[in-house]
Amino acid sequence: MTEMVRTRDELAQARARLSGPVVLVPTMGALHEGHLALLRAARSLAGDGGSVAVSIFVNPLQFGPGEDLDRYPRTLDEDLVLCAKEGAALVFAPSAAEMYPKGRPAVTVDPGPMGAVLEGEFRPGFFGGVLTVVLKLFNLVRPSVAVFGEKDAQQFALVRRMVADLDLGIRIAPVPTVRDADGLATSSRNRYLSADERARALTLSRALRAGAAAAAAGPDAVLAAARAELDGEPGLAVDYLALVDPETFTGPVDSRPAVLAVAARVGATRLIDNVRIGGA
Ligand code: PAF
Repeated sequence: MTEMVRTRDELAQARARLSGPVVLVPTMGALHEGHLALLRAARSLAGDGGSVAVSIFVNPLQFGPGEDLDRYPRTLDEDLVLCAKEGAALVFAPSAAEMYPKGRPAVTVDPGPMGAVLEGEFRPGFFGGVLTVVLKLFNLVRPSVAVFGEKDAQQFALVRRMVADLDLGIRIAPVPTVRDADGLATSSRNRYLSADERARALTLSRALRAGAAAAAAGPDAVLAAARAELDGEPGLAVDYLALVDPETFTGPVDSRPAVLAVAARVGATRLIDNVRIGGA
């Protein structure tokens, strides 16, 4: 039985009823196979005695001017069915006014230098918005563990760093990227793509595979192989392709392991993807 709550008071009451350690799955809703993998990992981490809590909140703080806040998919009814099916005990789906009762918060989390590169360079303010809402969700839900997808590798690294730097005492568990059969990483934004755009979007995962296949020849070869795939698709506007350290998101890296990360726009849709090069 899944309980859905919308206010912080209802959340506090429902949280008190949860049994055992709580595993949080923070989401913006529009749940897809990638989220189902997060929910299943959370269910398994919670074990028989623990509980899974899911947050569904399209966080305005992490959208810049001209981004897709207004058209971001909102599918709460379907999301609730999926959460129930995957054994979540609690869904917290607040309004923006509930999360930010005083409007835009005056005090926010500064993601530091790691938040200014790659995604942070192309989406100024994005990681400050993400870390601020994640910290608020941690304070409201008080989980022992929270799960995040490796698809958002820089977000994952920053959340881990925030937990370490601010002594939050929450375990951050990674969940591998889920891909469609043709290689496209699952994303709520994939539903914006026309059939033609989707075909072009496959270049991202193809580029990452080409880069990974060149790993034995060193970092320059990895980047060159991936770049060649991206350059072969004129319908793609590449924001960045970078080979970076998975914990600091700085480069260049001259030893394994590393993350090969890419962001590109296909029509009006911006997609990101990444792959681990070397290491475990
Ligand atoms: O990855 C997401 O869906 C969001 O960035 C998150 C972590 C739920 C914060 O709004």
